[in-house]
Amino acid sequence: MATIFICDDETEILRYLDKLLQASGYRVETFARGADLLLRLAAAETVPCDAILLDVRMPDMDGLQILDELCKRRPDLPVVIMTAHGTIDDAISAIKQGAYDYITKPFPKEKLLGMLERLLDHRRLVQENQQLREELHRGGSGSDAIIFRSDAFREVYDLTLQVAESDANILVMGESGTGKELIAAALHRNSPRRSKPFVSLNCAALSDTLLESQLFGHVRGAFTGAVMNQKGLLEEADGGTLFLDEIGDVSPAVQAKLLRVTQEKDFIVLGSTRTRKVDVRFVAATNKDLMKEVIDGRFREDLYYRLNVISITLPPLRERREDIEPLARHFLTATARRMKKDIRDIDDSALRTLIQYDWPGNVRELENVIERAVILARGGVITAALLPLGARREALTVTAGAAQMVALDEIERRHITSILKETGFHKSRAAAILGISRKTLDRKISEYHLAERDNA
Ligand SMILES: Nc1ncnc2c1ncn2[C@@H]1O[C@H](COP(=O)(O)OP(=O)(O)OP(=O)(O)O)[C@@H](O)[C@H]1O
Ligand SMILES: [Mg+2]
Repeated sequence: MATIFICDDETEILRYLDKLLQASGYRVETFARGADLLLRLAAAETVPCDAILLDVRMPDMDGLQILDELCKRRPDLPVVIMTAHGTIDDAISAIKQGAYDYITKPFPKEKLLGMLERLLDHRRLVQENQQLREELHRGGSGSDAIIFRSDAFREVYDLTLQVAESDANILVMGESGTGKELIAAALHRNSPRRSKPFVSLNCAALSDTLLESQLFGHVRGAFTGAVMNQKGLLEEADGGTLFLDEIGDVSPAVQAKLLRVTQEKDFIVLGSTRTRKVDVRFVAATNKDLMKEVIDGRFREDLYYRLNVISITLPPLRERREDIEPLARHFLTATARRMKKDIRDIDDSALRTLIQYDWPGNVRELENVIERAVILARGGVITAALLPLGARREALTVTAGAAQMVALDEIERRHITSILKETGFHKSRAAAILGISRKTLDRKISEYHLAERDNA
């Protein structure tokens, strides 16, 4: 459902357009002052808004001035200017300034609805094209998308694209959950081997025998339980990339066999005598300090240098906090879509909590936290109360320590009042944040006598 923001100082017109557009299936937010509109859009980059209807003559700020701000801050949002009869000059300067179109008051409703429909179609097309371009650029789509904003990760990503083309083996290092597997897949996707298989093997999860049989395959009777011939992953990955995850956990025996494959490009299937040739590029990953493992004698130095022709080190999330917000929004959109929940935003205090937290489990932990919040959310917004993070627990304890001796409904009254103020008395939004229905909110407003003028 598309959302239209309407800004006009005449409440009559606001009310009329609100009703008309809602009846036509739009979501609507109305603003009586240009400053409120700008404030709402400044709150977050992803405030749900698809188009703006803007009156040019308003008392608090000149419409053209607002248009100017809008074009600067949100050039992606189409603005339709509403002008009064006989002020065609306003319309022309508005279009010159970047308005999408204009409509002269009074207008028949079909004219407005037709215009909005065309504009939204156009916007969808532009967005789709942009998305396609971005995906091409990233070389991934959907769950493969690599999201970042920080310079630290940009460097890593540039290096990834740069070395992807070579045939060198690559070692990806980084704490747990920093995106090592994602980078390994990107290396393959951007390499000349991209049309061949990308095969992934978690070396830590398997016993030696199983790991060897997975890697090299086996013939029937090679060991107890080997009832059929089975192809190994090395063969599966022939021509492509083999991703060896948790390479730091591989035993010395398997390390020796791996060394041979990386050197000779051939191997022996378990239980057979024949050697087999393969052409595989290795990408290995570890969250251990592999050099230290070498020094301590747990990892072969020769294998280390074989695998680590080039290394890519992923910085932990706490060292690139700029990435937290775009990642959180990315996971929010993906999870909400998967769970068919209409949750689009993260409120400011939740965002602050996310950005301040240290993320020992890095991006994976962030993904889990957002998923949990989406499951628990009852309104359309992720609030700090939905985040099980240390920072929030602290905040709660502080309030608890300074407990005030008041009745529960007094707390409720105060809380509702403050949320209403926070949202500029926008009842649907307030209800969403409070996790109650609009009807319940209306009831509480009259119960507590919270008319707008008392709280201005
Ligand atoms: N920059 C990113 N953009 C989008 N998603 C990301 C990003 N980094 C990590 N993820 C997601 O976070 C999760 C963890 O990433 P991944 O599995 O690649 O990490 P890892 O370093 O291999 O973790 P582990 O050490 O626990 O195996 C995955 O679901 C991945 O899709
Ligand atoms: Mg991994």
